[in-house]
Amino acid sequence: MNILLLGSGGREHALAWKMVKSHHCDDLFIAPGNAGTSQFGTNLPIEVTDFEAIKKACIEYKIQMLVVGPEEPLVKGIYDFIRQDAQLRHITVVGPSAEAAQLEGSKAYSKKFMQRHGIPTAAYAEFTSDNLEEGKAYIRHHPLPVVLKADGLAAGKGVVIAATHEEALQVFEEMIVHRQFGEASSKVVIEAFLQGIEVSVFVLTDGQDYQIIGHAKDYKRIGEGDTGLNTGGMGCVSPVPFMDAFFMQKVEERIIRPTVQGLSKEQLDYHGFIFFGLMNVNGEPFVIEYNCRMGDPETEVVMPRLQTDIVSLFAAMDNGTLVDTNIVFDERSCAAVMAVSGGYPGSYLKNFLISGLETLETDGSAMVFHAGTREEDNEVLTNGGRVLAVTAYGNTIAEAVAKSKAVLENIRFEGIYYRKDIGYEFN
Ligand code: AMP
Ligand code: GLY
Repeated sequence: MNILLLGSGGREHALAWKMVKSHHCDDLFIAPGNAGTSQFGTNLPIEVTDFEAIKKACIEYKIQMLVVGPEEPLVKGIYDFIRQDAQLRHITVVGPSAEAAQLEGSKAYSKKFMQRHGIPTAAYAEFTSDNLEEGKAYIRHHPLPVVLKADGLAAGKGVVIAATHEEALQVFEEMIVHRQFGEASSKVVIEAFLQGIEVSVFVLTDGQDYQIIGHAKDYKRIGEGDTGLNTGGMGCVSPVPFMDAFFMQKVEERIIRPTVQGLSKEQLDYHGFIFFGLMNVNGEPFVIEYNCRMGDPETEVVMPRLQTDIVSLFAAMDNGTLVDTNIVFDERSCAAVMAVSGGYPGSYLKNFLISGLETLETDGSAMVFHAGTREEDNEVLTNGGRVLAVTAYGNTIAEAVAKSKAVLENIRFEGIYYRKDIGYEFN
């Protein structure tokens, strides 16, 4: 079948790499894609939220499956758009309806969902300009640190962990009164700080059944030793040593199963990935957030470790046979190290030539997944903050990370920076 993949990051390059291995995949199209995705299919110059252009492409290229990488088109209703269009409704969409995507699109919605289904998460309250003073009083009495979250999508910047009440009050006003993130911060969730280790678990569901397709630990801070500003993710490792069968059983019983049962009970139309952002608090799992998509760079380690044909899984998700599928993982560890532009996550320059890509070994033990790259006159140029992720396999996490770094030593662009301590706790 012909498949259209929406997005342009390392996640999409890794999904493209995985999907073209499937004998179910005939022609692959990526909108808009990057210099890496064009190795596996045809990039189309279409924005992920331009639904009319997506419709035209679906018809022109006889698309039978639409795989949605980022959250924005999902929250804006791409699933519903396809379902409601007589010319498109036969297409299998990997991604939830707009309503179900609120699990990511609104922090308040997801907190209420978790409360309704008894899913462990941090205690919280939500406020708008209508109860601003109440919110301030709530903050003043809240133990420290306190976590403030813009309700809506804020490009990964909407969460602040405030160390003092003064800072929290300032952030609260900034979000609600000054609309720091526009409409997205007209409502703010204030929640208790959870002390622990973060881990992400990935599930594919049809809203009734599910399969766990992998997990990973992401390194979010720009600086080594987990210091400095938050980023989209600077690297990932999988499997995570503390995700043993005992902990995984708790995650499945207390979190994954009640979540999928909740979707089913509430008749939410959910055919796609669920990304469970979890905190391991002294061996007990809590949900920090849901995302309605795969993670980036988590996908760059989850796809390489997943041996099952992903397109078959998507088809099974669509026809109600997900429960009969068999998930097989590569036994090896996997690490992804993200190379970013100098200055990221602050301001940075683009359009630097990337060299060293052509001399990479091709024995399959390492892959370069492009994120912010573009092609011009047969050259690859930087085109974003996160530029590329190098994923490698190893017998241990340390070995996989060492291999990723060895590959990165041969890749150059002006201002290149990457963390050399990814997976440091597991050495
Ligand atoms: P998010 O934008 O929802 O992914 O949150 C960004 C980051 O904030 C998370 O990855 C966590 O590191 C941190 N975070 C969010 N909520 C909490 C919480 N309740 N306790 C501790 N850390 C949190
Ligand atoms: N790496 C975190 C995310 O994709 O949200």
